[in-house]
Amino acid sequence: MRRVEGKVAIVTGAASNPGIGYTTALALAHEGAKLVVTDLDAAGAEACAHAIRDAGGEAIALAHDVASEADWANVVAQATDAFGRLDILVNNAGVAILKPLEALTLADWNRQISVNLTSVFLGCRAAAPALRASGGGSIINMSSVAGLVGNAVTVAYGASKAGVRMMSKAIAADLGKDRIRCNSVHPGVIWTNMQSAAGYGARERTEAAAATLPLGTVGEPLDIALCVVYLASDESKYVTGAEFVIDAGMTAT
Ligand SMILES: NC(=O)c1ccc[n+]([C@@H]2O[C@H](COP(=O)([O-])OP(=O)(O)OC[C@H]3O[C@@H](n4cnc5c(N)ncnc54)[C@H](O)[C@@H]3O)[C@@H](O)[C@H]2O)c1
Repeated sequence: MRRVEGKVAIVTGAASNPGIGYTTALALAHEGAKLVVTDLDAAGAEACAHAIRDAGGEAIALAHDVASEADWANVVAQATDAFGRLDILVNNAGVAILKPLEALTLADWNRQISVNLTSVFLGCRAAAPALRASGGGSIINMSSVAGLVGNAVTVAYGASKAGVRMMSKAIAADLGKDRIRCNSVHPGVIWTNMQSAAGYGARERTEAAAATLPLGTVGEPLDIALCVVYLASDESKYVTGAEFVIDAGMTAT
């Protein structure tokens, strides 16, 4: 029996490769889940679903703006129509607007909060009835180390991710009675398209910066995906409202 055999999962932000959502979707499918992969980039989401099907799994792809309430209603309806139930929601999609306080415009702030935080509220609220109807489920919200510690350029990004952290705990408290669990995941420096665009550019420069971390290296999307698989599976049935920091020790020192 695979670790999430027969469960149905929605993973948002699954188009980017290398990306955390893409790798998480493949890892969940590898462990037996049926996948609904979504993204603003519909062609990229379709490529992810294709990769899952090529590997012998089941997946559909949907165009989805996670900041849109109407899109969320459509995604949950399509997931239950396609696979008959919903067990796992991975709120992974995000953007990083990395600017210090006085460089941030109100438009930057509103976009950051809408795509990274309002989206998670909308997704959890839209999925809750379907998860409840399945007898319970697991919500995994992608936060960041930036939701735990401050940095000069994470004024808006860090606020969005700290919001995701605390919302996850409140949802855990709210929905535990329905056996719906909710946890947050806090990646450090993971090599993805977002990281190559945001941080130090080339992988070698990012590796050089990561050399100061206790484990001294950049992480891979699979380092995060395997934590999500654990949280999605019944192995974590007694775990809710918790935060999982996967950062090579960055925030330990
Ligand atoms: N890579 C890291 O080091 C790192 C560290 C901490 C947290 N995170 C978080 O992990 C998550 C995934 O990050 P990643 O590095 O894989 O990023 P990525 O940029 O590689 O992938 C993000 C995906 O989200 C999609 N997306 C953006 N806006 C969207 C919207 N409005 N609706 C739907 N999809 C949208 C993009 O199209 C993209 O496919 C993000 O929430 C990010 O903040 C990443």
